[in-house]
Amino acid sequence: MSESRVILEVKGLKKYFPVHRGDKTLFVKAIDGIDFEVREGETVGLVGESGSGKSTTAYCVIGMYSVTDGTIVFKGKDISCASAQRPLELKRDMQIVFQDPGTSLNPQHTIYKILELPLKVHGLAKGHELHDRIVQLLESVELPESYLYKYPRMIGGGERQMVAIARALATNPSFMILDEPTSSLDVSVQAKIINMLLRLQKEYNLSYLFITHDLSLMRNVATRVVIMYLGKIAEMAPTEIFFRSPQHPYTQMLLSSIPVVTQQEEDLKPKKIKSQGEIPSPVNVPPGCSFNTRCPFVKPECYERDPVMVQVGPDHFVRCNLFT
Ligand SMILES: Nc1ncnc2c1ncn2[C@@H]1O[C@H](COP(=O)(O)OP(=O)(O)O)[C@@H](O)[C@H]1O
Ligand SMILES: [Mg+2]
Repeated sequence: MSESRVILEVKGLKKYFPVHRGDKTLFVKAIDGIDFEVREGETVGLVGESGSGKSTTAYCVIGMYSVTDGTIVFKGKDISCASAQRPLELKRDMQIVFQDPGTSLNPQHTIYKILELPLKVHGLAKGHELHDRIVQLLESVELPESYLYKYPRMIGGGERQMVAIARALATNPSFMILDEPTSSLDVSVQAKIINMLLRLQKEYNLSYLFITHDLSLMRNVATRVVIMYLGKIAEMAPTEIFFRSPQHPYTQMLLSSIPVVTQQEEDLKPKKIKSQGEIPSPVNVPPGCSFNTRCPFVKPECYERDPVMVQVGPDHFVRCNLFT
């Protein structure tokens, strides 16, 4: 995997949001210096609790947010600028599927119109070809042609997400960001959407940045896992190594709370580390390691020194004072 071409490279990315408290301006450090990459054909699972900065990362990469600091390079081009200044061919090549298809699809438009829009905006088809392409997009997400004339409210949540996926495919992207694509859906349709995404990935040679708060989902989906905590990366590793030998105390805490089916899986889990303490507010991150309020292995230096990322194995990185 490590020999594959890097298509997305994020370096030192920061995104701070100003918030006004009385006459003071404070900053929510939603992302505070993250580095990661996505390679051709892989699925990077970006995992973290709610508020850890996952969506903000997605919105910076796709260009919906300007960045506070750092660089984003896509296929060799610096795209750290906001979306409006990005070359059109790069914008086409990178798409996003949002968590809630209910709000991401225009309720006034038929499915036909929703799928037609990106094709027209990018001048990708017209006349007969346009119609055929719309039908083909709908087929690629296994929805019948009759759906073209329905409105989003007339179909189920899972089907709406399939339409959102079809819309993202319209411009023939090579890279897709999936921001919790199944977390607003019934469990019964979640597996269907995941399987569809995996099939589409093979069919169209897609690379995914798959964002989720559900670590267990990543076991069979991601090629590499990146764990975020309070706007920083705690650990990243190839999936198999990650689940076999997690190193960061936070990762171990997350993994030990995942329910498993078999005793064999139970035996593989890290020893139970109880979740303790509170997640600090990102406007008021404690000095030192931001995990120091919850870490069972906290040392005096963790209240002073913010750890740096160190490599602990092939493609395996951990940011924790226990390793430096
Ligand atoms: N537009 C914004 N203005 C101020 N704070 C924001 C804004 N967007 C996100 N945040 C804050 O940034 C942090 C990260 O949010 P987000 O990226 O949405 O997390 P996640 O997707 O992991 O749940 C949260 O504390 C959130 O409240
Ligand atoms: Mg989010």
